Amino acid sequence: MRYLLTSALPYANGPIHLGHIAGAYLPGDIYNRFLKNMNEETLFICGTDEHGVPITINAESRGITPEDVIKENHKKIENAFNLMEINFDIFSGTHNETHFEMSKDFFLTLQKNGYITQKVVKQFYCEHDKKFLPDRYVEGICPLCGATGARGDQCDKCGNSLNSIELKEPKCKICGATPVIKESKHWFLELNKFQDRLAKWLDTKTHWKNNVKQFCKQWFERGLEPRAITRDINWGVPVPAEGGDGKVLYVWFDAPIGYISFTKSLLEKRGEGKNAWEKWWKNKEDVKLVHFIGKDNIVFHSMVFPSMLMGQENNFKLPDEIPANEFLNLEGDKFSTSKNYAVWVDDILQDISSDILRFYLAKNAPENKDADFSFKGLQNANNGELAAIYGNFVNRNLSFINKFFKGKIPLEVEFPQEDKELWNSVEKEVENIKLAYSEFRVRDAVFHLMELGRISNKYFDTMAPWALRKENKAKCAGVLLNCLNLIDKLATLFEPITPTSSRKTKEMLNIKPVFDFSKLNENQIKEGHKIGTPEILYEKIEDELVEKWKQNLEATK
Ligand code: 2FM
Ligand code: ZN
Repeated sequence: MRYLLTSALPYANGPIHLGHIAGAYLPGDIYNRFLKNMNEETLFICGTDEHGVPITINAESRGITPEDVIKENHKKIENAFNLMEINFDIFSGTHNETHFEMSKDFFLTLQKNGYITQKVVKQFYCEHDKKFLPDRYVEGICPLCGATGARGDQCDKCGNSLNSIELKEPKCKICGATPVIKESKHWFLELNKFQDRLAKWLDTKTHWKNNVKQFCKQWFERGLEPRAITRDINWGVPVPAEGGDGKVLYVWFDAPIGYISFTKSLLEKRGEGKNAWEKWWKNKEDVKLVHFIGKDNIVFHSMVFPSMLMGQENNFKLPDEIPANEFLNLEGDKFSTSKNYAVWVDDILQDISSDILRFYLAKNAPENKDADFSFKGLQNANNGELAAIYGNFVNRNLSFINKFFKGKIPLEVEFPQEDKELWNSVEKEVENIKLAYSEFRVRDAVFHLMELGRISNKYFDTMAPWALRKENKAKCAGVLLNCLNLIDKLATLFEPITPTSSRKTKEMLNIKPVFDFSKLNENQIKEGHKIGTPEILYEKIEDELVEKWKQNLEATK
């Protein structure tokens, strides 16, 4: 089996915060690393989503071009991923020729196959700016809940998506004038024509998460309707049809095509040729397609994009898995980029390592319900688990071997009888951890990793090498050798979550940085092994640091 993994394309309209990381990016990276450690072939695809109205509004309000906006943010976002050790095979963007071509092809094929219609619709138009005002270009009072500041496409207060001309007291976002209503021609994707096929396909996904299944069920009950896939702006992929001048494809039409166009760019760059991407996207049998997303993206990945794929000529792959996550909150409130109520990757990584952050986000992943990020929780996860259990086990063993055995396991070792029980429980936890990774249950993976840490510490405590050293040196050496192999297994199994510490641990063990999950049943380190230089793996997070973080966040309120 080969695995094609994608993480939702982040909008190139601002930096990303830990809420984003926890939802669609870290889970994808953990799964990708897990698969690689299982010796599977993978492609992990991402890049910025560079079209859409918020980007043009941002550019206009700052007197710069949309190109400037996307360039600036692409760099910031890519940097955040690098700092977090989230390693895509490609991190591209949607504003380029390859992507335009593919998006146009998708549109034209859907049109040829009878899945796109044209309709004249009423739209707000600003006489002053001589512009139609799609989506966020207009703001007013929500017709459903009465909140002010509702935008043309959606009210953030009640969460409903809106038909912009229903907004009360509408105002042009650029000049503040009251817009008039004008007619404009648009293209619609006829989702209704796919409902039966979608429903049948989704019926086969019995193991999918409830959030995705429930969501689709509700949409099917209401009945799928044609959805507008063009907009009256000039930033985006031009509509490749007669009468399309001054109009572009809706950002949610072209964005998911990015998964495919980026695959194409990547494989071309690797020298595999122009059509190599088809071996991943059009081969149903031996590729698993997995979309990592947050819950706000479910409809597009479970219905709109699959419809677009079904409406193509060839047998495009449909997603095999959509492990959609719920949201991460911050100290009890919602993350908010516009209010700067967030933890930014580069800020927090000034104070702690990315592994600590990855560990806490994994332990506290919003898998089945919203989760809360708290600085105290981060401190507890590090001090009480990473440092106290994993780090401590590594440290106490390596220091002991250094101190009493000059860093070298003797050639003569005797293995204690209790080992059988040890390796039985280790084997059980290894299986639990692998299964949890394979089923996107990262919280459980962390739980069982810590169990393995506890089992290891208990073995050390029970065998008491400090006493054995005097009574039976060979048996003491056997215990220590076992402990080195336990450390090796911990480092290997932890790698998808804490890659830097795993590399560092292997270095301290003086073995190659290989994380092969198929070798976990054998003990790799043998008698006579010489270890490297021990270092503290995880430092404690002090209360003062937690206080500083809290105060900085409070200051944004
Ligand atoms: O919600 C978002 O951040 C979108 N930019 C996600 C797009 S995912 C995809 F399909 F490209
Ligand atoms: Zn105006």
